[in-house]
Amino acid sequence: MKVLMVCLGNICRSPLAEGILRHKFGLHQIRGLVDSAGTAAYHAGERPDPRSAEIARKHGIDLSGQRARQFRTQDFDRFDRIYAMDQSNLRDILSLARNEADRKKAGLILNMAHPGSNLEVPDPYYGGDEGFSRVYKLLDHACDGIVAAASSGLKEHPKP
Ligand code: 4NP
Repeated sequence: MKVLMVCLGNICRSPLAEGILRHKFGLHQIRGLVDSAGTAAYHAGERPDPRSAEIARKHGIDLSGQRARQFRTQDFDRFDRIYAMDQSNLRDILSLARNEADRKKAGLILNMAHPGSNLEVPDPYYGGDEGFSRVYKLLDHACDGIVAAASSGLKEHPKP
């Protein structure tokens, strides 16, 4: 299963989501590709925010190989699932979709923990460290849902 995590800057939330899911795929021996991107290009080429790197490191996850990049239309061809952190990210992703097949690949990541809730992963960029530990917990839970779906061969996002 090829999964792309998407937020705004690709330095806080989606790098963490990428690291957590790659780690879980390894633990569960799930074959797949995990990557992340931002809808905006402001931080392209940058490493993950040090606060994301630190909370990941505390959980034994290494984000040091990651560099930010912008989401692009071709990502619909490269990935099976595209998980947005919030509604604004999802709108931006869908604005680049070419057809219904593209649109069906995209969804809100927290719907993998709480189907149909349409909850958002809050942007922690301007807040303190506690925002990052909250984001970690939300993403950890959602990635458990992705692993469960991948293991059971679930083909669709749970629908709202
Ligand atoms: P992210 O957080 O979307 O989780 O990577 C942000 C990072 C940078 C900015 C906004 C959100 N920014 O405005 O520069």
